[in-house]
Amino acid sequence: MTLSNESIAVLGMGYVGLPLALAIAETGLPVVGYDVNEKLVDALNAGTDPNGEVPSERLSGNNTIFSADPAAISSATIFVIAVPTPVTKAKKPDLGAVLSACAAIGPALKKGDLVVLESTVYPGVTEEVCGPELERLSGLKAGPDFALGYSPERINPGDAMHSLAQVVKVIAAQDAETLDRVEALYAPVATGGLHRASSIKTAEAAKIIENTQRDLNIALVNEFSLIFERMGLDTLEVLEAAGTKWNFLPFRPGLVGGHCIGVDPYYLTYRAQQLGYHPEVILAGRRINDKMGQHIARTLVKELVGQGRDLKNSKVLVLGFTFKEDCADIRNTRVADIVDELNSYSVKTDIYDPRASADAIFEHYGYEPLPDLPKGGYDAVILAVAHKQFVKLGADAVRALTGPKGIVYDIKGIFDKSKTDLRL
Ligand SMILES: NC(=O)c1ccc[n+]([C@@H]2O[C@H](COP(=O)([O-])OP(=O)(O)OC[C@H]3O[C@@H](n4cnc5c(N)ncnc54)[C@H](O)[C@@H]3O)[C@@H](O)[C@H]2O)c1
Repeated sequence: MTLSNESIAVLGMGYVGLPLALAIAETGLPVVGYDVNEKLVDALNAGTDPNGEVPSERLSGNNTIFSADPAAISSATIFVIAVPTPVTKAKKPDLGAVLSACAAIGPALKKGDLVVLESTVYPGVTEEVCGPELERLSGLKAGPDFALGYSPERINPGDAMHSLAQVVKVIAAQDAETLDRVEALYAPVATGGLHRASSIKTAEAAKIIENTQRDLNIALVNEFSLIFERMGLDTLEVLEAAGTKWNFLPFRPGLVGGHCIGVDPYYLTYRAQQLGYHPEVILAGRRINDKMGQHIARTLVKELVGQGRDLKNSKVLVLGFTFKEDCADIRNTRVADIVDELNSYSVKTDIYDPRASADAIFEHYGYEPLPDLPKGGYDAVILAVAHKQFVKLGADAVRALTGPKGIVYDIKGIFDKSKTDLRL
């Protein structure tokens, strides 16, 4: 199947939508990249990706038209939705952005058009939420008039080895003919291969369990760490020994943040609860992972008190604020839990992160991070994120920030145990 007469609109120019729009445009198809964030659209038009994932040369040399005006997508024939799918404070799916993307597409929808959802959702959102909404707004019928597809994203920000071009991409559609069209859209850009799922709901479920499985595996190791701490055992040493078994999975303890792993399981548990099943294992894992920041802060507080330090006069430096290493993404970072908990004990806490935007940290969390790595004077340092910059810095330079009597808490196990005081 050829797409030579198609015109593509990608809605949402973030970590997922932007690389996709650029890659499709590079195959020669006309692409509009639509985003409600005008500042972001201006930056992209000026050749800058604020997320730092796409180099300026690639952006400026690309034919994608970036716009914050919904009229710009009116002549598209294929609409791809790549907008955020967060949870509410009560940990319920927040489909607001998906619905507002449908509201932009509805008036533009014509007979024969295709709408593909890329956002991570629970099984049923494409056909039971987006489909009826698009029908209502366009007056057309899903199936006879326009088609629906789903293709979840697997990109990993900050990880060039697992980009759109490298990994296998799952595709699904409401009928076989539409699936061929979805395949024709993705085959030239997802060169790692495509997997044709048997239905849209199967593909939606596949994405959600990939992240739920990872969340639970980390929760199990976090629970090991909570138990071993009480036994006086070093968890990383136990994991190293257990890891010599051929089928032991190499997960490590830590914070589980970001907008995927710590969020997507709630989409599955929400839908399960609607169907009368109350998930136990998945939610237990979530609870453990969500409490790790508090646990880390309390462990440090105990150590400070144990050393006879006055908490109100103690100064702690947190190195790293992003939700994971080597990226600028601070969405749903659980490092904020450590800082909040330390603040609740009146411990003065500074943050330094060479990758994250200070403005974004202030805007979303209200903290003012340090512009540069300080010289020293801290009672304790928490190595919260394993950015390359911190690994390169070395254990001795980190120790120098506290002096010989200070506490270095290496939660990621970056340095040799002998060089630090605490780890998970
Ligand atoms: N980032 C990842 O690594 C990753 C990986 C796999 C799946 N996903 C999933 O992909 C989806 C998008 O994630 P992301 O990381 O690209 O999000 P993002 O926050 O980086 O980008 C989303 C963009 O959508 C825009 N937006 C919001 N509402 C809109 C609307 N109604 N119309 C047009 N644009 C709108 C926002 O302004 C933002 O720029 C989510 O469902 C996420 O769970 C993300």
